[in-house]
Amino acid sequence: MNSIFRNRHFINEDDWSRSDLGTVFEVAFDLKKRFAAGEPHRLLPDKTLFMIFFEPSTRTRNAMEAGMTQLGGHAHDLTVDKMQIAHGESAKDTAVILSRMGHGIAARNCFYGTGNAYLNEMARHARCPVMSLQDDVYHPFQGLADLMTLFEHFGRDLRGLKVTVSWAYAESHAKPLSVPQTQVLLFPRYGIDVTVAHPPGFPLSRHIVEKAKQNAEAGGGKLTFAGDMDEAVRGAQVVIPKNWGGFGAWEIDDYLKNETECRKEMAARLAKNKGWIFDRRRVALAAPGVKLMHALPADRNREVSDEVIDDESISIVYDEAENRLHTAKAVMALTMGGRG
Ligand code: CP
Repeated sequence: MNSIFRNRHFINEDDWSRSDLGTVFEVAFDLKKRFAAGEPHRLLPDKTLFMIFFEPSTRTRNAMEAGMTQLGGHAHDLTVDKMQIAHGESAKDTAVILSRMGHGIAARNCFYGTGNAYLNEMARHARCPVMSLQDDVYHPFQGLADLMTLFEHFGRDLRGLKVTVSWAYAESHAKPLSVPQTQVLLFPRYGIDVTVAHPPGFPLSRHIVEKAKQNAEAGGGKLTFAGDMDEAVRGAQVVIPKNWGGFGAWEIDDYLKNETECRKEMAARLAKNKGWIFDRRRVALAAPGVKLMHALPADRNREVSDEVIDDESISIVYDEAENRLHTAKAVMALTMGGRG
């Protein structure tokens, strides 16, 4: 078991080995048990985490803040309007200063083309661990909670498990690519057979797909692509129906130069795909006992029907959401405490 975690950044799981992640899961399962038993586990007494949210959050914000309280520390819940970031203060200056005052920095910045770069810039300059609370490319904490939930429902050996990560229709907003991209990078490392489905105009980023194929090759999983939701869910043991914006259809520089036009084009493509919903008819196409997962928030009756998401024999979305707490605590305990 690797025990050198202190001050490691957590921005992308691809930088963490299976052995590293194995330690994270051991700690997460232990903390989940202790939480359930009401046993104190103050592993980070008097430590401070600074959380900066550029976008709204329910699960991530509260997993981190409640997690820090339960670990004996404190989390500052910061948004851009409360900070000099609003007046243009740099990622470097923000990171250096916060890391002189506390023990961890965590940020959510999902702006397409710049969010991940912002986090990496903070990490280059901070003296403490920098954690991604989701960016435009990755959502590493979501990936951990997803895998923990799969372990709980299917056992620790996930080789050959058939998981479908499907684009789905939504109207709330063009969701980032980071959740499906994290899943396609991470799941095949555990031997999972992943099918990715999306309509024309909604690809994942090309460099992520290439890396995911390499991960599948190394981890023994499979990565398959489909252009039809029925075909993708047929025989699936787990279905993850989730919207993502069509950002991956453009090179980042082209998107940033023509954002307004690209957004219009994305909206036109979106309107053609209202039928991409995981509903009772598609449950019947999947494997018997299929499970629904979703990072939440869900666009109900657009991405997934109410009767499917509210069916406790199918839906494990609340287990998945709760595991955000236990996995967040494990990463914080290891990176902000742990051995030097
Ligand atoms: N899944 C997730 O990241 O949820 P929030 O946006 O509420 O944090």
